[in-house]
Amino acid sequence: MARISYVDGQFLPSHLAQVAMQDRGYQFADGVYEVAAFMNARLLDEARHLDRLERSLAALAIPMPMTRRALTLKLYELMRRSHQRDGLLYLQITRGAAPRNHLWPQGMRPVLTMSVFPPKFPGAALRAKGCAVITAADERWARCDIKSISLLPNVLARKKSATPELRETWLVNETGVITEGSSTNAFLVTTQGKIITHPADHHILGGVTRDVVLELARSHQIPVEERGFTPRELAEAAEAFLTSTSNFVLPVVVVDGNKVGDGTPGTVTRRLMALYDHHIEQETYENSA
Ligand SMILES: Cc1ncc(COP(=O)(O)O)c(C=O)c1O
Repeated sequence: MARISYVDGQFLPSHLAQVAMQDRGYQFADGVYEVAAFMNARLLDEARHLDRLERSLAALAIPMPMTRRALTLKLYELMRRSHQRDGLLYLQITRGAAPRNHLWPQGMRPVLTMSVFPPKFPGAALRAKGCAVITAADERWARCDIKSISLLPNVLARKKSATPELRETWLVNETGVITEGSSTNAFLVTTQGKIITHPADHHILGGVTRDVVLELARSHQIPVEERGFTPRELAEAAEAFLTSTSNFVLPVVVVDGNKVGDGTPGTVTRRLMALYDHHIEQETYENSA
């Protein structure tokens, strides 16, 4: 069956989906995006994703293309038309189309596009074994909190870990701390069982999964500290893990070729995986409200 997309008011098969060449998304990467998972035809953490979308748009002075309620209805209609119960929903909003000029004209009409992708959540074997990552320089701009479609440094960083054994590239900024991954948030667990992760400031994208995991940790008395950590601290850590919409909570057992702790998923990470799985079930269980 053809994959389904939505382009500026129209639902159509993805292979027929087209955008204007003059769209500022294409010309200047002038836009934002969101990716949300759905299961049992229910969006996971819908309100958090829409909140972040509104924050990103506001930071770039791009208006919402429609009301939040209307956008939610479109998201659900796209899911229904995709005939998928589980998957990833990708949406992008650009400032719109205009003759190419750095300065944008007043009153532009934003353009919304959306697509549905099959689920690519990690399988049981990967979750049980954990993954390997490498580190590389963080070469991004000063507003990583905006979920901008301008992802070139992220794309180039991820290319550095483009082998089947590696899952991600973690980014080290000019002060020597790990900010996050190219498309994931980064965490370590100290030998005392404390979770450390970079604060959700302008240097990282505040992941929806990150927020949920930190809330779950705090409500289960697992200590959390939000600060940057160095690769050296990571070398001495007991555990590490990453989070994202498409990875959930995934153990990181090797960094730059060195084992983290004993090289297997640790107890705190496994506990958080279980808590997060439960959160997914609660949010998307068929009989949930
Ligand atoms: C740079 C970056 N950090 C973190 C994340 C994880 O965010 P979320 O948990 O909302 O998927 C993403 C997701 O795309 C990302 O691009």
